[in-house]
Amino acid sequence: GKKWTEVKDLTHELKDKVVLIRGRAQTIRAVGKKMAFVVVRERGFTVQCVLTVAQDVVSPQMVKFTTILSRESIVDIEGIVSVPAQSITGATQQDFCLDGGRCLVLVRGYCLLKVVLVEIQVRKLYCVNKAIPTLPINIEDAARSEVEIEKALQAGEQLVRVNQDTRLNFRVLDIRTPANQGIFRIQCQVENIFRQFLLSEGFVGIHTPKLIAGSSEGGSAVFRLDYKGTPACLAQSPQLHKQMSICGDFGRVFEIGPVFRAEDSFTHRHLCEFTGLDVEMEIKEHYSEVMDIVDRLFVTMFDNLNEKCLKELEAINRQYPFENLKYLRKTLRLTFEEGVQMLKEAGVEIDPLGDLNTESERKLGQLVLEKYGTEFYILHRYPLAVRPFYTMPCEEIISGAQRVHVPEFLTERAQALGIDVKTISTYIDSFRYGAPPHGGFGVGLERVVMLFCALNNIRKTSLFPRDPQRIAP
Ligand code: 4AD
Repeated sequence: GKKWTEVKDLTHELKDKVVLIRGRAQTIRAVGKKMAFVVVRERGFTVQCVLTVAQDVVSPQMVKFTTILSRESIVDIEGIVSVPAQSITGATQQDFCLDGGRCLVLVRGYCLLKVVLVEIQVRKLYCVNKAIPTLPINIEDAARSEVEIEKALQAGEQLVRVNQDTRLNFRVLDIRTPANQGIFRIQCQVENIFRQFLLSEGFVGIHTPKLIAGSSEGGSAVFRLDYKGTPACLAQSPQLHKQMSICGDFGRVFEIGPVFRAEDSFTHRHLCEFTGLDVEMEIKEHYSEVMDIVDRLFVTMFDNLNEKCLKELEAINRQYPFENLKYLRKTLRLTFEEGVQMLKEAGVEIDPLGDLNTESERKLGQLVLEKYGTEFYILHRYPLAVRPFYTMPCEEIISGAQRVHVPEFLTERAQALGIDVKTISTYIDSFRYGAPPHGGFGVGLERVVMLFCALNNIRKTSLFPRDPQRIAP
């Protein structure tokens, strides 16, 4: 086979070498009849390719063919790497943000300095697959930050603001932007770190059924279906089966899998299908053992993302400027009571036996940030009436609890919550054969990425989101 070079690997060291690349024609520009420029993008990195009419190498027909190519078509280009005069030595594509070889210094969405790293003097150009001439989304427009859009509009430039719905309708195009390329690479890292960390702590990865007989979280938000004549539903969480795995002696388990919620509310943080990151473990002495795992897991995760995903974070930051998440080496733990007290001192009265609503959650987040300098903290000892859970400021990210492992009490609790005990009888029975005290937690993958990158909508962190109004694409 031929030797291919990835756009991200184009450096000064390749000067005067012949390279072969494949990418998309992001923009095509003709200069008279004898020259054309094609910016080729591959996985978010770009390089400018130059066609100049020259005998035996580039014909006028080839330049013409190039200038009528449609944007986003897939092209193969063979050419010689050249280093333009204004280039900077010593840099590589990796030193740039995902938008590749053309922007050097970026601060909160502003490009301070533009340079071209290398160019390709084209010798051969093939169109591998043509895109239709008019695309529903212009990738360059879709990749601009609010600041850039404002500036462009003020400068009288013609551009279309790409709204969220249009992006989602044409998601295949939308996910080509550098920010989106970054978001989903970070998502992959979150999953990877979650798995690696838990494996190193002696957890076993499991998979539980998604077709179940009754609801797993209670409440009405389930997708019902017909299971060969028996009423069933899509699992709202792996809750019941992960606990049953603890009864089955695995000691510590985790699962990464789909979670279905027939949400009625259309909000910026709820999806009808998301990826659950779930943990369940035996407790030896105290539920704080679960909090210790939460603490170390998330500090490890945040550290790793900040260290290993610089390019991705930069690409996201460029379009959606955000400040790095503030967190402590040892996660702050507040009791619910302390939280209520802090709110009270700030003039917010809440029911000490009730739940926090979104507004008071946010307020407490602000107060904690001011007082302790962290945006990530654990709120524990929730009143009995509402379930214990660990939370992030502004918005809940994780929820978890020690579980009931006494079958009689479990039956009582389920009945009190209006759950048809018959549908979960095999679950309750699992606790009759000897069950250790245990606890765990669950967190939505999309929510972790959304909150870590301070994005304003969970749809941005779901590749093909499912919400109450969307089941396509
Ligand atoms: O708080 P939830 O409903 O808790 C459970 O599912 C428990 N079984 C977890 C446990 O082990 N105790 O959901 C857990 C997490 C939430 O904290 C949130 O991060 C996410 O799942 N989540 C959603 N993410 C996106 N869209 C939705 N509709 C979500 N509902 C919950």
